[in-house]
Amino acid sequence: MCGIVGIVGRQDAAPLLVEGLRRLEYRGYDSAGIATLVEGRIERRRAEGKLVNLENLLKVQPLGGSTGIGHTRWATHGVPTERNAHPHATARVAVVHNGIIENFQELKAELTAAGQVFESDTDTEAVAQLIDYLLIQGFDPVEATDRALARLQGAFALGIIFAGRPEMMIAARQGSPLAIGYGDGEMYLGSDALALAPLTRRISYLDDGDRAVITATSASVCDRDGHPVEREVRQTNLSGALIGKGQHRHFMLKEIFEQPEVIGGTLKTMLNPAERTITLPYLPFDLAGIGRVRIIACGTSYYAAMVAKYWIEQLARVPVEVDIASEFRYRSPPLEQGGLAIFISQSGETADTLAALRHCRANGQHCLALVNVPESTIAREADGVLETLAGPEIGVASTKAFTTQLTVLACLAVALGRARGALDRAAEAEVCRALAEVPSRVADVLRDDSAIRAIAPSIAEARDVLYLGRGTGYPIALEGALKLKEVSYIHAEAYAAGELKHGPIALIDDSVPVIVICPSDHLYDKTASNVQEVVARGGRVIFLSDRHGIARLSAKVAATIELPEVASFVAPLLYAIPVQMLAYHVAVAKGTDVDQPRNLAKSVTVE
Ligand code: AGP
Repeated sequence: MCGIVGIVGRQDAAPLLVEGLRRLEYRGYDSAGIATLVEGRIERRRAEGKLVNLENLLKVQPLGGSTGIGHTRWATHGVPTERNAHPHATARVAVVHNGIIENFQELKAELTAAGQVFESDTDTEAVAQLIDYLLIQGFDPVEATDRALARLQGAFALGIIFAGRPEMMIAARQGSPLAIGYGDGEMYLGSDALALAPLTRRISYLDDGDRAVITATSASVCDRDGHPVEREVRQTNLSGALIGKGQHRHFMLKEIFEQPEVIGGTLKTMLNPAERTITLPYLPFDLAGIGRVRIIACGTSYYAAMVAKYWIEQLARVPVEVDIASEFRYRSPPLEQGGLAIFISQSGETADTLAALRHCRANGQHCLALVNVPESTIAREADGVLETLAGPEIGVASTKAFTTQLTVLACLAVALGRARGALDRAAEAEVCRALAEVPSRVADVLRDDSAIRAIAPSIAEARDVLYLGRGTGYPIALEGALKLKEVSYIHAEAYAAGELKHGPIALIDDSVPVIVICPSDHLYDKTASNVQEVVARGGRVIFLSDRHGIARLSAKVAATIELPEVASFVAPLLYAIPVQMLAYHVAVAKGTDVDQPRNLAKSVTVE
């Protein structure tokens, strides 16, 4: 998490640094700060809270200088105050950092004993103080940085400037992403290419272990062994335009409403509606030879993986294991050579998912990335890439990324089924027909959200909410509970409906709304019985089903939300929409910060 930017330029750096930070705010918004060199001196402006606070500060206390660094923070060590905001600086050096310096306490103790005076509670300040100490010992900026880097443990992307050296900036990467931008007589540094898109489209990415000395016209990169290396300069297609909310009040709502279009756009790349066939983009391995699939992801992407398990096992008859990325690596799972490991990530930068990918690559797996950012680290390090064409997702709560992930995974399940001989031509055509209808059916759901709006105020008053579902409805229940927690701060839990009587039923009373995902499928009767059990105990059920399902329900529920009747295979794509909408309207009713909920960041680049 945290976003960093840097410039060695010809014009005032401050406005460009702030513009870069605006495009990185999705990485954290606990505080923001910039440092520039003004007549050779390090000057800083830092502000607690969102970037707008820094902008307001700069209006009254502007900052000159054409070389500088900037940071938007997601707090790890130290509360989110101005004192703990980056850049961390001494009179000689200023540092911005994304990642965690794991041995900072040991360094701090050592440097304090040597006379360095710390002023913050952060891990990052140890880097600034260590370089400062080495500069005092007489090392030049590059030597001091190299010696400091050799002492650091953990993950970092660093941008460093030095008093009296406006012609240069140093960047270093170990675990956290970092891009260098090539301008016209100016050079830039950013956590990703998106931050630099208004400034340049010519980008190179540092590899782990790289250290770069950046001037206004060049970047000299050395690898972890100190050998000079060239990193390919690519042309990015990312737009420099800032993305707006259109006529919507929040990005989350805009992104929810974009789903018919982006699901359709994603489908178009794989589905031939006339022939009712699926063709995946080129993959560097043969799907017919895949006898086992492992899917690894975090958060919402993990719930997409859970849906895919049902789909792939059903259509391709291949066993699928689904892992939370942060758990996967540390339990050292046995991996057979040649297995397929799929990594789902909207950002393509999630530290745990990336670490799992590296572990799988090192252990002979075919690694397939399913990402929304094709230039991301996960995409670049995988053997093959399947792209979700959701477009930039700005709201911290994932919505359109989730449904486009499901879209790609549905197509993958079909392709795998066909390649393995488990799915015949007629069955493929049937699934394709259902998939082709999804964009219109999603549009139908979005057309009338009055039932959801009507129940939102009562949910907003609840302290706890339960979500229930069976089959693919279970991961949708999990996703619904996650959405509600994220944007409305209401405690929500999801259970497989059949698990209810094994404990959670003790929670039921009339103060706990129970949201039930129940399409008319082969599991309908089972879930409907669970609804009876809840209602019998005074529970307040909100029942999500199609017309047929609602008509068949004999239990007296508090509210129903009707969805179109669709083939059960594609139901998760539809039922995802009302749970997103519900979370959104509850958050609005509660007055929370929908697009930037407290404590969260869009891209989680620390473990
Ligand atoms: C979803 O609303 C979240 N904000 C979060 O759970 C997210 O899905 C998770 O951090 C994974 O991110 P990724 O898809 O970019 O890897």
